Amino acid sequence: MSAAGNLSGPITVVGSFNMDLVIEVPRFPTPGEAILGRNFRRACGGKGANQACAFAKLGQSVGIIGAVGRDAFGDEMLANLQSLGVDTSAVARRDTVASGTAMIVLDASGQNQIVVANGANDTLLPADIEKHAERIRSSRALVIQLETPLAGVQTACELAHRAGVPVLLNPAPFTPVPVELLRCCRFVIPNEGEASRLTGCEVRDPATAAVAARALREQAPEAEILITLGSQGVWVAGREFTGHVPGLAVQAVDTVGAGDTFIGAFLTRWLEGAGLAEAARFGGTAAAIAVTRQGAQSSLPTRAEIEAFPRQ
Ligand code: RIB
Repeated sequence: MSAAGNLSGPITVVGSFNMDLVIEVPRFPTPGEAILGRNFRRACGGKGANQACAFAKLGQSVGIIGAVGRDAFGDEMLANLQSLGVDTSAVARRDTVASGTAMIVLDASGQNQIVVANGANDTLLPADIEKHAERIRSSRALVIQLETPLAGVQTACELAHRAGVPVLLNPAPFTPVPVELLRCCRFVIPNEGEASRLTGCEVRDPATAAVAARALREQAPEAEILITLGSQGVWVAGREFTGHVPGLAVQAVDTVGAGDTFIGAFLTRWLEGAGLAEAARFGGTAAAIAVTRQGAQSSLPTRAEIEAFPRQ
């Protein structure tokens, strides 16, 4: 097996599906306060599904292992992924649990607050993952987040790691992660808040991200760490490159799914043979384009759009 797993295999994403219910607000409410918002909309989301779409949009062969309810949201989310070419044959339908939903408020600067009702995502247990062990072992890479139960995440990561398949962990939303899990990973990609909570080092900017990345690499020396910093770009601490890849100046309208976009584009370029800095720049450009548009899956850029984006 090469550094990139089975070169002819698909990328396998293990992760969540949520229907995103979005309201725009002039500012976030304080506890106990009710405020008026506008422009309610719903859109297919969930970190796992968003990341699978990001790979598909960039021409990668990709499949997802997950769970949705046998309900209208489940039908719509699966149809949306299928229309982009994502293999959804390993997604379980649950008869007695609703599909995941996410309540999202977006403020005037495009920043978001998200509350997720995990629903069917919570039923993705080790036995469901083991059913697809062969699929994971023959993948080009495994991509996984923490919106599904940790026990299943651990099972998937161990299966992939033992088979020499590179694992990309997006530790979102924050959940304490055992060191054994970190040690299965080729890439760990938290945002600043998740990196702060994983390490106890407060991340605010590239300098503090460097401290947190060092702390993570002390726990998992083989893992390459990329800490996404929103408009400040990304801090990369890897084997062949350590440094800051600056962000791009854009007018953000909706930051939901920006991290998922980054992950899809970053790993796509890395699998194509790019170095860490170049792959991180490609991911950052994809995310910068995505935040100028509404929605998570609906904002994902194509390769042509990323390549045409002016270098700053
Ligand atoms: O990463 C963005 C996603 O987080 C949203 O689509 C929402 O569903 C939450 O899972």
